[in-house]
Amino acid sequence: MSKLYMAVLGATGIVGQRFLSLLYKHPWFEITLITASRSKAGKKYSEAVEWVISNDVPEELKDMRLQELSIEKIVAEKPDVVFVALPSSVAVDIEPVLAKKGLVIVSNASCFRREKDIPVIIPEINSEHLDIIDYQRQERGWEGFIVKVPNCTSAILSLSLKPILDTYGISEVYAVSMQGLSGAGLHGVSSLEIIDNILPYIPGEEEKLEYEPKKILGMTRNGEIIERNDIRIYARCTRVPVLEGHSISVLVKTHNEPKSIDEIINIYEGFKGLSGLPTAPEKPVIVHRSNNRPQPRLDRMNGNGMSVSVGRISIYKGENKIKYFVVGSNTIRGAAGNAVLIAELLKQRKMI
Ligand SMILES: NC(=O)c1ccc[n+]([C@@H]2O[C@H](COP(=O)([O-])OP(=O)(O)OC[C@H]3O[C@@H](n4cnc5c(N)ncnc54)[C@H](OP(=O)(O)O)[C@@H]3O)[C@@H](O)[C@H]2O)c1
Repeated sequence: MSKLYMAVLGATGIVGQRFLSLLYKHPWFEITLITASRSKAGKKYSEAVEWVISNDVPEELKDMRLQELSIEKIVAEKPDVVFVALPSSVAVDIEPVLAKKGLVIVSNASCFRREKDIPVIIPEINSEHLDIIDYQRQERGWEGFIVKVPNCTSAILSLSLKPILDTYGISEVYAVSMQGLSGAGLHGVSSLEIIDNILPYIPGEEEKLEYEPKKILGMTRNGEIIERNDIRIYARCTRVPVLEGHSISVLVKTHNEPKSIDEIINIYEGFKGLSGLPTAPEKPVIVHRSNNRPQPRLDRMNGNGMSVSVGRISIYKGENKIKYFVVGSNTIRGAAGNAVLIAELLKQRKMI
């Protein structure tokens, strides 16, 4: 089988590094174009990148040449998918132009996530939202299309909410996040700010967490995604001195009463992964019974970083409330891994 061509825009950042590490040995995909900012264009990847996600840059990536972010050059390479790991302020101008020129964009940048015709996909939850792509193309006059990857914390929360929503229904969610440093990007938070500390504010994050799960868990109608506005999410997002992995303490108010903690555990364990996609974990949600799990350091790489881990499940009898703690990798399930899984889904659905 000949491989599909993948471009990674923003290949030197934290998410870009994750993309390359997931793609260089991928059975279906091949990296054919990587970009960084202008000062790094033309350089070998190993010379330009500040590699932080493992001991060393894999041999296969070291000699790849970085390109500048040029629309003409990207279009000329004819990639089958363009993965975007750029700041949203840069992506906002480039993504619609590339989509108009016929390219398929799978993007981690937050721009356009609130547009009704642009799906925000977690393949295990809402793959049917891809059905609106035809409307997106028609309405916007694009030959290509844009699919969005959710915000990292929203991805982790949504996976943990899906089985509860399907079984009991949900009216309210209270979520307090403790987000790792890699979520702020390569040069995001200074050591003087974060060592021995917790930052109680991450700009824009609470708005995303209060909105995106409602879109991801929503349905499509007449070419639009209808959000679950019957669910109210209250979010508080904090930055903590953890290198990688976001943890969220969650309280969910359900419509129907859970009978027992075991019943909830069984429901999570019945949430099966997708078959036939190389990056799909066997279990999207892993349940822990021990009182001191999950922990970001121990559990962020479960399912190769694609599973979220739920534990500390409690119920409040007679109040229809479930409380739990969830941990996941922000750069893999919350970003590059989910994007690669979306691209695999697009291939499975013959959309690329
Ligand atoms: N980090 C996470 O956990 C996470 C999770 C979900 C979504 N996201 C989103 O993913 C995107 C990337 O995040 P990140 O954490 O990887 O950020 P990052 O570490 O700061 O990396 C940003 C990348 O974009 C490139 N870039 C920046 N400005 C550019 C410009 N004007 N022209 C061309 N290239 C430019 C950088 O190249 P240089 O190296 O040359 O500067 C670098 O490759 C953001 O939109 C972020 O919100 C991040």
